[in-house]
Amino acid sequence: MNSSTTQKIDIQKASTSRIGEVDFNNLTFGSTFSDHMFECDYKDGEWQNPTIKPYGPLTISPAAKVFHYGQAVFEGMKAFKDEAGKVWLFRPEENFKRINKSSTRMAIPEFPKDLFFEALTTLVKMDKDWVRQGLGNSLYIRPFVMATQEGVSASPSTEYKFMILMSPAQAYYTGDVKVVIAEHYSRSANGGVGAAKAAGNYGAQFFPTNLAREKGFQQVIWTDASKHEYLEEAGTMNVFFRVNDTLLTAPVSDRILDGVTRKSVIALAKRDNLAVEERPVLVSEIVEAAKNGSLKEIFGAGTAAVISPVSAFSYKETVYDLEKQEDGYAARFKKELMDIQYNRSEDPFGWRYEVL
Ligand SMILES: Cc1ncc(COP(=O)(O)O)c(C=O)c1O
Repeated sequence: MNSSTTQKIDIQKASTSRIGEVDFNNLTFGSTFSDHMFECDYKDGEWQNPTIKPYGPLTISPAAKVFHYGQAVFEGMKAFKDEAGKVWLFRPEENFKRINKSSTRMAIPEFPKDLFFEALTTLVKMDKDWVRQGLGNSLYIRPFVMATQEGVSASPSTEYKFMILMSPAQAYYTGDVKVVIAEHYSRSANGGVGAAKAAGNYGAQFFPTNLAREKGFQQVIWTDASKHEYLEEAGTMNVFFRVNDTLLTAPVSDRILDGVTRKSVIALAKRDNLAVEERPVLVSEIVEAAKNGSLKEIFGAGTAAVISPVSAFSYKETVYDLEKQEDGYAARFKKELMDIQYNRSEDPFGWRYEVL
């Protein structure tokens, strides 16, 4: 399915930049977009007409299959600017592999690697001024694919649009994250689409997450769909538990997204000889650890906020508070990851990818 391509990208530059209108000190995550976007169509069995053009609306048939059957996948990654003005991506190869893995699960044709990287780097270079210097500032990059064939019959589309949008982002302070452990609703199931970044996975979480919000919690930690006995992941983050000095996290499976931040935290922990266990984590063992004082930290790991410490969790109507850890594992991994991302430290794993 993966058509290789040496097609040249048609570049249509914006006549004027909108950058002067943007207040980079007051950004709401994901709501401002850079001057350009990438667009490429799949038709007659191949990806064609790759184009970079000014960011703007699309004209799509209301009968496009994406609106009716949710055949759509996406990715999330970031570009960072270092103190010398160089721009870097963090492990972009992982996002490339993952979008094609997600596409395969959703019966969407894979996108060619050379074109993905050509589009990504050309777009970032064109809009390089939108990547602001300073720790915490970044350009969030959103590749996505949607089914564009016109027709309300429930079958895979024969036409798709692959796009990349970019949105400047500031340091993402999640504040005190309080979470609810899911007891009724589920995010994914065995054999389902949990391991794919399929659009519908996110829409399906909004309602139960709203219920948690009404009770004063920001996120849900999802549990296995069959018995709600095992802790899996949060809305857009994988989750780590520190019991004494051992780090626990659920293994990736067809229910859990294989997060880039997650695998980077595990690599850093192993390098530093910390005990890490990737294994099914029982809700009951974490509740017990919270009761006996051995639960030191819970934190989420994901591209948007890098690491989000959890201050409390609720389970069966009981709230368990976690003591704030100034020098905990969450702060340590956040610093180590950001130092690599912003070219402030060595990159022993070869995770940085230079754009310009
Ligand atoms: C469901 C889910 N889990 C985990 C993550 C974290 O993945 P990553 O670290 O690659 O951003 C994300 C975000 O992409 C996600 O949507």
